[in-house]
Amino acid sequence: MKKKSKKNKIKTSRRDFIKMLIGISGVGLLGSFLATFKSVFPALTKKELGESPVFVYAEDFLEVAKKGEEAKVEHFKTGDAAKVLYKGDLVMLLKLDSKKIRVKQGVDQGFIAYSSICTHLSCIPYYRKDLDKIYCPCHDGIFDPYDGAKVIAGPPPEPLPHYPVKIQEDGTIIGSEPIKEVRV
Ligand code: FES
Repeated sequence: MKKKSKKNKIKTSRRDFIKMLIGISGVGLLGSFLATFKSVFPALTKKELGESPVFVYAEDFLEVAKKGEEAKVEHFKTGDAAKVLYKGDLVMLLKLDSKKIRVKQGVDQGFIAYSSICTHLSCIPYYRKDLDKIYCPCHDGIFDPYDGAKVIAGPPPEPLPHYPVKIQEDGTIIGSEPIKEVRV
């Protein structure tokens, strides 16, 4: 009887040991699965960015920053434009000549941000340096980046929503919810 229970004990501890091994390898597999998943689908979902007001690059920005990094003042020269995310919204962040900007609020050191979703049929407009304007390629919509993304040409019915910009002490650039434009 004694012998049997010793055997059982050994069996049980073997089983526990195997269970533990399976558990460890399961955790390992899950970890490597998540790592692979993250590399294929980088952490740029609304859920993950939902709480932070910091603009995060939606794609690699020139040679200076990688997709997913926080936008910083030092990354920009005047005339640069980056695709960023604000709490999951696709936004264009521009560094313009502050003397030319004609909006009163939501601008900091020449940085200004507008929605990257066209108010016509939701195409993705972008800043064209050659025109010094925001251009929507779908139907040639043109917006004035210095004047609250006011529509200059084409069918868009309204300006692009304006996301106020604020520069933090460490140079990171944060946004807030879109505002109604106040022009100078
Ligand atoms: Fe932008 Fe039509 S979708 S101009």
